[in-house]
Amino acid sequence: MDHKRLLDLLNDIKDVHIGVVGDACLDVYWHADMKQSELSRETPHFPLPVVEELHFLGAGGNVAANVVGLGCKNVDLLTVIGLDWRAYELHRLLLKTGMATNFVVEDINRITPAYCKPFRHGVSEVVYEDPRIDFVNRSPLPNDVEEKVLSVLDRLSQQTDGILISDQFYNGVITNQVREAINELALGRKIFVDSRNCIGKFKNAIVKPNEIELFAAVGQELDRRPEAVFHAAQLLVRQNQQSVCVTLGEKGCMWVNEVGYKEYPAVSVFSPVDIVGAGDAFMAAFATALTVGANQDEAVALGSLAASITIKKIGMAGVVSVQELLQQSEN
Ligand SMILES: Nc1ncnc2c1ncn2[C@@H]1O[C@H](COP(=O)(O)OP(=O)(O)OP(=O)(O)O)[C@@H](O)[C@H]1O
Ligand SMILES: [Mg+2]
Repeated sequence: MDHKRLLDLLNDIKDVHIGVVGDACLDVYWHADMKQSELSRETPHFPLPVVEELHFLGAGGNVAANVVGLGCKNVDLLTVIGLDWRAYELHRLLLKTGMATNFVVEDINRITPAYCKPFRHGVSEVVYEDPRIDFVNRSPLPNDVEEKVLSVLDRLSQQTDGILISDQFYNGVITNQVREAINELALGRKIFVDSRNCIGKFKNAIVKPNEIELFAAVGQELDRRPEAVFHAAQLLVRQNQQSVCVTLGEKGCMWVNEVGYKEYPAVSVFSPVDIVGAGDAFMAAFATALTVGANQDEAVALGSLAASITIKKIGMAGVVSVQELLQQSEN
């Protein structure tokens, strides 16, 4: 995409209204300095003295933050949180990022999802990552909360130009009923879906599976050969009645629709890279570009550019800024 077209797209993105619907979580990083640890008197353990604590928006929260990063001034997140310390923090991060929280549903009986990662630092450069501590809901969204989500979704869909679905968790926000409402809405609106476990159940919306999600959706064994990816994506197109954009990591992506397919290389990036967040950044840029009228080639170009920047952000999912996009596009 030439620089002028990129500038035009970014200009249009400023005023578009984007909704992100689905699972948000809090990503917590605890850095412990083991040099300061003293043997506990109660248990035979060396505690982890946390010397730095970092919080970021994760999952759909990171997708929404990446839409804001593209310069979009109107981004609304519809998610469900609880009334715990993580909810407080998630709220604070949304406001800090520049999002309103009118579409965030709170329920005292729900757990605000969080992934907490403890890291041990010692004398040498070696850093050990301890097992992650996860807060996730173990029961499905109760009916009354689901009702609230459906009514907020209805309201949101009337105000937005495009909706990005982030369906990440078992027992998350996208229940069967919510998905059915989304499928219905997608008949007349621009809806884009990223779903870890159920991408095959969406209809009428443009879907963005990775290879693993694609083959799971069509009930086949993973087969990374391009012709196998194409055939599986064709099945998904038939199921979904809409285009499929399969992301293939460092190999780029493949766009498949009812008339054929097109392969796109990734933007080449020198190591070290940290692929965490690549899917979120791609999804945010790709879907927002399509919402403002970019064609398929342009949307993939913006998605790939954004993903190539985020993978250079080591140790976090990361948010890509307009300035970084413009810089990277000039390289
Ligand atoms: N190593 C890489 N080099 C360059 N680009 C990459 C690399 N890995 C990923 N990308 C870019 O990011 C896009 C999305 O990556 P990927 O297919 O890994 O998504 P994903 O599996 O949904 O990611 P996530 O694990 O974040 O959900 C790719 O289509 C590509 O453009
Ligand atoms: Mg993904």
